[in-house]
Amino acid sequence: MKVLIINASPKMDRSNTLNITNAFVSGFPEDYEINRIDIYAKDIKPCRGCFCCWASEDATCVIKDDMTEIMAEIMKADIIIESFPLYFYNMPSQLKAMTDRCLSFAVPYGGSRSEDGRTFDIMRDPAIFDKKFVVISSCGYVEPEPVFTALLTHYDLICCGRDRYTAILCAEGQILSNARETRQVRNYLESIKAAGSEYCANGFKLSEETQRKIAIPCFSPEGFRTIMNAHWKYGES
Ligand SMILES: Cc1cc2nc3c(=O)[nH]c(=O)nc-3n(C[C@H](O)[C@H](O)[C@H](O)COP(=O)(O)O)c2cc1C
Repeated sequence: MKVLIINASPKMDRSNTLNITNAFVSGFPEDYEINRIDIYAKDIKPCRGCFCCWASEDATCVIKDDMTEIMAEIMKADIIIESFPLYFYNMPSQLKAMTDRCLSFAVPYGGSRSEDGRTFDIMRDPAIFDKKFVVISSCGYVEPEPVFTALLTHYDLICCGRDRYTAILCAEGQILSNARETRQVRNYLESIKAAGSEYCANGFKLSEETQRKIAIPCFSPEGFRTIMNAHWKYGES
């Protein structure tokens, strides 16, 4: 299996979220091939809204930049993991730019209505729906609810249903960085690694029990507040 990690944190290697993503894929079988693209190091120009990709037979975008390579990597992958921080309740701008540029994966919209509420359902290459898709995000808030609500609704629409992707949404992101090695964080990352093994062994799904377990933040809000107060006081980066 080919795994593509799309790392959409501007902090790149220092991303808190990437720490979670690395723990998740460390639970994958050894013969899985893992590739990573740091999209903040890539030239991704914003979509111009010209619809030339829909007008051309081969779905070519008129903009020539790193999206050609990124889209080729997406098509090669069996499992795609988008890994990113929550920015104002949604994805960071570079990932939004990348997502907009993926318009050419869909066929031109002709006004059809979907009885089951699915929207963008028709893809040029239906094989895209055979790919496994995972969203891993971390936020600064002490609980996943309600800050990830808009993001989940966003992905439900993009993926045409919540059953078509797996979401790992982690609160207290700042303490999940490499820099804060505590017993609680180590245990949490072990649970994420176990979730990665389960995901592959369980038909690329997580059980409800695992989803519940990994949604619980490492620290209580009081514990988190103590760590964060110390962090800002001493000005760590
Ligand atoms: C511009 C900006 C916007 C943010 N918006 C939110 C937000 O809406 N909700 C939240 O809980 N955290 C928010 N955060 C905190 C980050 O999501 C959090 O620190 C995350 O763990 C950073 O992940 P990274 O190290 O992978 O980049 C924001 C941070 C920045 C820099």
